Amino acid sequence: GEGEGGGEEYLFKIVIIGDSAVGKSNLLSRYARNEFNPNSKATIGVEFQTQSMEIDGKEVKAQIWDTAGQERFRAVTSAYYRGAVGALIVYDISRRTTFDSVGRWLDELKIARMLVGNKCDLETIRDVSVEEGKSLAEAEGLFFMETSALDSTNVKKAFEIVIREIY
Ligand code: GTP
Ligand code: MG
Repeated sequence: GEGEGGGEEYLFKIVIIGDSAVGKSNLLSRYARNEFNPNSKATIGVEFQTQSMEIDGKEVKAQIWDTAGQERFRAVTSAYYRGAVGALIVYDISRRTTFDSVGRWLDELKIARMLVGNKCDLETIRDVSVEEGKSLAEAEGLFFMETSALDSTNVKKAFEIVIREIY
């Protein structure tokens, strides 16, 4: 971490990556502001939010970068991985193609990583089983969690596990 001012303080950069429309921006808005947007637009380039949490009595700040999943922004977003110490790789449990892309995203960075199966509220149209997510995570040495930005399931947990791991 980085010392700053009087008290001890830590700042970490974390990135959220994965195919377009898997819910990266909504996971971040749910985590940082407890907000969900059913009509959110595709992210253009990169946006970030700073979120604090307390670990062992110390304030830990995570600067969380939300990247665009669309292919045409790929060249731009990869520049933002620099300095990142943690990542959430997100897929949409209701769209298998987004799960098939996980390997490609993993190749892009080698840091503390969490595989996230988002939209677990869409159980009725599930296309990727929990077991498949788990075993991919195991094979790749990743943490794993299914989340829903819509109903808040595991959102806080997913971010905080990565932040704790780094810390
Ligand atoms: P890019 O910015 O293009 O990379 O997309 P993104 O991954 O940021 O996706 P975004 O957060 O914009 O969400 C895409 C769509 O999925 C939106 O219509 C969201 O409302 C919806 N969505 C996001 N998270 C969830 C979820 O947990 N459950 C459900 N049912 N829908 C979700
Ligand atoms: Mg987005």
